[in-house]
Amino acid sequence: MKVFAGTLLALLLATPAVADVDKTTRSLAATCAACHGTNGKSVGGTAVLAGVDKAEFIKQMKGFKSGQVKATVMHQHSKGYTDEEIELMGAYFAAQSRE
Ligand code: HEC
Repeated sequence: MKVFAGTLLALLLATPAVADVDKTTRSLAATCAACHGTNGKSVGGTAVLAGVDKAEFIKQMKGFKSGQVKATVMHQHSKGYTDEEIELMGAYFAAQSRE
């Protein structure tokens, strides 16, 4: 019984942590929605982020951030995110369907 209670406690403690990460990532990705569409499904001519290649996304974001990739908007926007946050967003957008 003690083992069971321990497992249950571990599950209860683990669940909010997972939800937190998801919420953080969703909030990060939501800041892109104004221009790139909800969940990266752009309808206004801005690049579609849904279903991107994660590695390519990270490369582009880091390029914007360092100024190596010239941009009108994204060089400013990308500077607001840490490399870790860029990775989280890359995984998030890569997992979104383009349909
Ligand atoms: C104010 C509008 C705006 C917002 C907000 C915005 N973007 Fe962009 N994004 C652009 C524009 C415009 C481009 C084209 C490059 C440029 O001129 O800056 C672009 C290009 C990109 C590209 C390159 C796509 C490609 O295939 O060339 C990526 C990746 C990207 N944005 C990611 C993001 C992410 C991630 C966010 C949220 C953290 C975000 N953008 C928020 C306007 C925006």
